[in-house]
Amino acid sequence: MTPRTGRHFLQIPGPTNVPDQVLRAMSAPTIDHRGPEFSALTLRLLDALKPVFGTAGPVVIYPASGTGAWEAALVNTLSPGDRVLSFETGHFSSLWREMATSLGLETGTDFVPGDWRHGADPDVLAERLAADTGHAIKAVCVVHNETSTGVASRIPEIRRAMDKAGHPALLLVDTVSSLGSIDYRHDEWGVDVTVAGSQKGLMLPPGLSFNAVSDKALAASRTARLPKVFWDWRPVIEANRKGSFPYTPATNLLYGLEEALRMLREEGLPNVFARHARHAAATRAAVRGWGLEVLCQDEREHSGSLTAVLMPDGHDADKVREIILQRFDMSLGAGLGRLAGRVFRIGHLGHLGDLTLAGTLAGVQMGLQLAGVPVEPEGLGAALSTLRDAE
Ligand SMILES: Cc1ncc(COP(=O)(O)O)c(C=O)c1O
Repeated sequence: MTPRTGRHFLQIPGPTNVPDQVLRAMSAPTIDHRGPEFSALTLRLLDALKPVFGTAGPVVIYPASGTGAWEAALVNTLSPGDRVLSFETGHFSSLWREMATSLGLETGTDFVPGDWRHGADPDVLAERLAADTGHAIKAVCVVHNETSTGVASRIPEIRRAMDKAGHPALLLVDTVSSLGSIDYRHDEWGVDVTVAGSQKGLMLPPGLSFNAVSDKALAASRTARLPKVFWDWRPVIEANRKGSFPYTPATNLLYGLEEALRMLREEGLPNVFARHARHAAATRAAVRGWGLEVLCQDEREHSGSLTAVLMPDGHDADKVREIILQRFDMSLGAGLGRLAGRVFRIGHLGHLGDLTLAGTLAGVQMGLQLAGVPVEPEGLGAALSTLRDAE
């Protein structure tokens, strides 16, 4: 490959672009994780994380990727053979369900199949829960933002369906690709465990993940019998009270986290969400202007953090991605699982301004044209108008 000038465009839906300020913060010397300076940092971080999750309760930080936090959510709250209801919204909901099955949970009875173009359906949930009069279902798992499809499930409506049914199941929500990008409120929406990761809306490299934990989930953890050692919340929460961890924490990623949280506070979460919504709207305007189809089929469920674009029959999404990488030094997300080759995904989350998005969409348009995909050139103009005319 010829040497490149300028910055690579990392427009996959995570890991996202890490701001220079965050990289600089992480380059500080590693300090004693049992010393007073580190304890003070931990205590500040645990407080600063709360508004991002929308919680007054504990947030557990793991030196692990999002997959670890998935496992932590399950093993801390459930016992072997417990029934778990899940929705097939896409690749990640399927992986989480497979993990639950491997851990010895019962995931077959209450599985809700899906077409990978819609989110979790609150009406179906209401029916399933109403039928479960014996309250055998112990947890409902929902992926808030399906990174494989660009569909965001309506968590408040999911909560309402559970409340209406008067069902006591725990609500476990994956926000790996929505936290810090799409409006999310752990406490207000009555979520019991929120799963998150560092490498998307939080603008950090991969390597940290999180569980925000409700009182009800904490109570469930006292009787949950799935084996756990590393993932056990309680020793972590106990050690955190004094600003320490029961293992060696990821010191330098935590420096980065403090800076990333400061940046989110400075912009203001409502502005962060509005920026993501604007970029998502501009991207959809481009896709529709090109005459292509957005994968998400429900107007209420478009993701603010990424857009999956469906290819016309006879065209390979991976070919388009390859051309864009070679010609314009930009990475886009591949289609995952059953969508391989059929979609490409434009990540528009994290550290991103209007002109970076405009450049991204320009690269996509040129790549589609070079790949011989029939597209209308008005797509890019439609996106620019959306960006220009936004309030
Ligand atoms: C929605 C969602 N959940 C879970 C995961 C798994 O997280 P990780 O790859 O950090 O283990 C991902 C990864 O992209 C994701 O997008």
